[in-house]
Amino acid sequence: MAGAAGVITLGVLVSGSGTNLQAILDAIAERRLDARVAVVVSNKAGAGALPRAARAGVPTVVLDHNAYAGREAFDAAVVSALRERGVEWVVLAGFMRILTRVLLDAFPMRVVNIHPALLPSFPGTDAQRQALDYGVRVTGCTVHFVDAGTDTGPIIAQRALDVLPGEELESLKNRLLAVEHQLLPEVLQWIAEGRVGVVGGKGRASVVVR
Ligand code: GRF
Repeated sequence: MAGAAGVITLGVLVSGSGTNLQAILDAIAERRLDARVAVVVSNKAGAGALPRAARAGVPTVVLDHNAYAGREAFDAAVVSALRERGVEWVVLAGFMRILTRVLLDAFPMRVVNIHPALLPSFPGTDAQRQALDYGVRVTGCTVHFVDAGTDTGPIIAQRALDVLPGEELESLKNRLLAVEHQLLPEVLQWIAEGRVGVVGGKGRASVVVR
């Protein structure tokens, strides 16, 4: 069980059903994760994630990206919503927007994303379909820091899953989600314990988990 020290304050950004948000909320409730979700921000008013947050007593903010002049203006509004509630770490849990420097610079190396493939394979949307179409025998999910690219930031953790012979997309998506729901809260707990560091070097930044 996780101790009381080092409780991190999360802001979770969502666009969809919010099962990864639910996994975070469940892990907190079960004391497997020393965190507090201060706010859930959605760019979609109908996101299934919103009632999940409300049920857990977490404040929600809906910011429709179409209402903003551009990506930077939208990200500035997201940053305000996060800062107002004292967010330290930002989790993208099915958030279907590319971030600009406005958000990234406000939370440098403090934005993490979960992606349903073993990066750098199959970045972007429809990762599970990309993997099936390619015919890989093993896929998985990746938790990584977010940078300005699409699913290109330093990798924190990955978990692999065999693709079943003749597997359909829905089956793979669901089995991957179950793996995501384990991995994401686990990684957030490593962060809460101060075990995740980023090392620079001459090439790309990489992550050490102590
Ligand atoms: C997950 O597959 C996640 O990896 C991807 O978007 C999906 C979100 O699902 N980034 P949910 O909204 O957490 O149920």
